[in-house]
Amino acid sequence: MSIDPAINAEPVLRQRLRIPVHLGVIMDGNGRWAKARGKMRTEGHIEGVKSLRNLVELSINYGIAHLTVFSFSSENWTRPKDEVAFIFNLLRRFVASDLQRLIRNNVRVRIIGSRAGLEPSLIRLIDDVEAKTVDNTGLVLVIAFNYGGKAEITDATRKIAVEVAAGRLKPEDITEATVEAALYTSGLPDPDLIIRTSGEQRISNFLLWQAAYSEFVFVDENWPDFDESSFVRVLEIFSRRDRRFGGIEAQTS
Ligand code: FPP
Repeated sequence: MSIDPAINAEPVLRQRLRIPVHLGVIMDGNGRWAKARGKMRTEGHIEGVKSLRNLVELSINYGIAHLTVFSFSSENWTRPKDEVAFIFNLLRRFVASDLQRLIRNNVRVRIIGSRAGLEPSLIRLIDDVEAKTVDNTGLVLVIAFNYGGKAEITDATRKIAVEVAAGRLKPEDITEATVEAALYTSGLPDPDLIIRTSGEQRISNFLLWQAAYSEFVFVDENWPDFDESSFVRVLEIFSRRDRRFGGIEAQTS
């Protein structure tokens, strides 16, 4: 990241783009990127981290407030053990190499997902990153790691059930706000825009509750090839979308 001091995106370009408040990204296609070049899948993941670093920089420069990236899903455990271990190590390496820069650039990091099945040392690392950046007021970078939307809603349901069983909450008092407050994403706005790379057109258990009114843009590039021109192209598509939220008139986000 070359973001200190902050470089702003070209002002005219920014003026004609609608900037999402919360951008979600399903970073897909690292394996295919590698295969197409006769490389190991793990090399694709390494390039994927570079692309993530670039996206963080772009998000800061274009004024996005919240960025959530899907980096390991609860379903990814079915991959070969070595690849799972490699992705876990990538998280550790990303934190080791980028934490100071993220702090300097006022980025707050949140890591959402289930802690079940994670090694205690990884849980400590996650807690440490969150604690060290908690007072930062710039971009909120949310890393969905060991995350699944169904598991998140199930966990939220369990938390609410505990409150009801203890007599602290009445079933008739449960509202959408109660559920939202029990999700991992509590306190974050819903994503306005979700991008998925690599040509796949699925949600794959990403932010299921939160994506109720998100716009989706699917791009053909594999994640390591997603660059500033892809990013601007997506924002241009998003800027032309007519968001009605179930109503009849276009809304601005
Ligand atoms: C999707 O490509 C990518 C993943 C499941 C792993 C994503 C990890 C990164 C981009 C690195 C970010 C990292 C961290 C941990 C901070 P794929 O393997 O599904 O590709 P394929 O569909 O072509 O096989």
